[in-house]
Amino acid sequence: MKFDFKPVPSKIVFGENSALKLADEAAHMGGHRVMIACTQGMVSRISHVIETLGDLCVGIFDGAEPHCPEHVAMAALEQFETLKANIIVVIGGGSTIGIGKAITLRTGAPLIVVATTPCGSESTPIHGMLIGNTKKTGRDPKVIARTSIYDPILTTSISAHHTGTIGMNSLAHCVEALYAKVRSPVSDMMAMEGIKALTSGLPRSIENPTDLDARSQVLYGGMLSGHCVTLAGIAIHHKLCHVLGGHHGIPHGESNSVVLPYAVAYNENAAPDAMDKIMNAMGTKSASGGIFDFATKIGVPKSLKELGMREEDLDLAARETVERTPYNPKSVDQRSVREMLQQAFEGVRPEPF
Ligand SMILES: [Fe+2]
Repeated sequence: MKFDFKPVPSKIVFGENSALKLADEAAHMGGHRVMIACTQGMVSRISHVIETLGDLCVGIFDGAEPHCPEHVAMAALEQFETLKANIIVVIGGGSTIGIGKAITLRTGAPLIVVATTPCGSESTPIHGMLIGNTKKTGRDPKVIARTSIYDPILTTSISAHHTGTIGMNSLAHCVEALYAKVRSPVSDMMAMEGIKALTSGLPRSIENPTDLDARSQVLYGGMLSGHCVTLAGIAIHHKLCHVLGGHHGIPHGESNSVVLPYAVAYNENAAPDAMDKIMNAMGTKSASGGIFDFATKIGVPKSLKELGMREEDLDLAARETVERTPYNPKSVDQRSVREMLQQAFEGVRPEPF
């Protein structure tokens, strides 16, 4: 056995009512001027959390928007500097975390994330902003949240649709970590644990949104999925989802929901060890078929056609995916990727390649 492993440098505070520990966490970092970033709709949902900060909180930026547009992140940075804040606290999901990362990257101020969706972005070094129509991303370990707080109570109001699609994104991070380039026995262990937690928690969270045990499992799986991306990397699945999001406008959770069974089928014969682990974690006899059945069970979108993708754009999407995928267990060629996209377009049961 031979591997490199670098743990994600972040403290995790997990559990019901853990958001109420925010003031303690900020104080431990020596922060005495906290600015909060969130969406406008979030402020009333988290007023009890903000109250716990008392005088520590010097301001709230409530203008977060989807995909973290550059002008929004820069307005938040300006407010942070005007307030002379020294800790940025993000309460929200991926797009709001983008604001926190933009501020941390430029000021060096520590970032605390109270994760209200299980997206995993808080533990990755990837930062990004929407500049024009293009998402520009970079990598810097200093944008990883210094402390991440996971309180399942804050996730009970996520709709069934979003629970399912965000959950499929987390599941995809875990699944792909099992065959990504820099995987290790440690990332494999986290990925399998994440798959177990997500496949146990997602159906129950969708059926009963206030089931806190189910919500905890989903949040735990989402947390692990972020670590999986950081520790192991991504392959064809996520590259394809980024292509579908960039030029073809398909939201990330939705593209993940549709594509994952097909990306796994694409690699099914090339990565047998990873497939055994997926089947083991899910308790199924087929990796791609098991994921396809799971997606059906939780009611997420099943075809690119359903998501409004045009069949005439599949050639372009295949070409872009081939150009942008530096590593994948099965070699990435135009004909095979186009064939996979046709299956995903129609939403038929995936066939291994
Ligand atoms: Fe993702």
